[in-house]
Amino acid sequence: MTKHFALAAAALAATTALASAADVKMGYALSENSHYGAGAKAFDETLKAELGDAFTVQHFPSSGLGGEREVIEGMQIGTIDATIASSGTLSNFVPEVGVFDIPFLLRDLEHARTVLDGEIGDEMLAKFDDVGLHALAWGEQGFRHITNSRGPIETPDDLEGLKIRTMENPVHIKAFEALGAAPTPMAWPEVIPALQQGAIDGQENPLSVIVSANLNEVQDFASLDGHVYSPAIVMLSGQLWDSLDDTQKAAFEKAGDAAVVAMRDYVDNVEVEGIEALKERGMQVNILSGEQKKLFQDALADVYVDYEAEFGKELMDNIIATE
Ligand code: PAF
Repeated sequence: MTKHFALAAAALAATTALASAADVKMGYALSENSHYGAGAKAFDETLKAELGDAFTVQHFPSSGLGGEREVIEGMQIGTIDATIASSGTLSNFVPEVGVFDIPFLLRDLEHARTVLDGEIGDEMLAKFDDVGLHALAWGEQGFRHITNSRGPIETPDDLEGLKIRTMENPVHIKAFEALGAAPTPMAWPEVIPALQQGAIDGQENPLSVIVSANLNEVQDFASLDGHVYSPAIVMLSGQLWDSLDDTQKAAFEKAGDAAVVAMRDYVDNVEVEGIEALKERGMQVNILSGEQKKLFQDALADVYVDYEAEFGKELMDNIIATE
């Protein structure tokens, strides 16, 4: 290598290092019109307001960097910097967070937000530092409901043999097995093509997803059973977090909090307006009564014993007791 060429290469390497240090590659599964898009926008704007041009958030919506598991694995090795993701695959990284995926454990949005913003939620966030990640805050998707192309779901009997896509989440898979369905775990980017091709009959997601991903185009029935709360997480790669100074860390934390507020606002709004929107788009929507939901809860009594063994009855009781 000539001296001149070596100097030019060193200069280029330095520039590239600087540029990539300032870019925050953020991947998320849903469109910019979704609650994740709203969260990512608030994150981006807050970071800019706090730190000027020091960091540029590059958005990769709609699974542009792959499924949620791939994105989180990318963050562990530092090829991706940030994400907003569901709890779908989180328990593959930190098994304890699976407790939040237990059906009917979190009662309503207020209960869920109080638990996640409190000591129990904070303790769970801290565990991500042990696996090459840094979790900033718990965001949200809302309560999950069932959509399918076979008919309305009103009782567990209606789920019999239903090929329902679940997240790659052992807690959810176990629950749908107990309810008599045929759960088919699958990464999100494969779901809409699988529904289009009829490879699966249904899927389950909150209104925020059903509405923003236009699932009415591939599903006829939405049964609002709210079987489980769906948290989301705002997270950075451990490498990015460790490279920040204290001022920058505080700014990223503020950006994470702003993302949570934006996501929750979106969810509050879609919980009210989403049902009408789906009906207008031609979907048949049924809302399960308290009594109907109780049938699903009763059918899960045996698996609750397994959940208690796995996650600890004390923790589950503490969550239930949180006001
Ligand atoms: O069903 C899922 O996998 C998740 O809820 C989704 C749609 C990817 C959002 O995180």
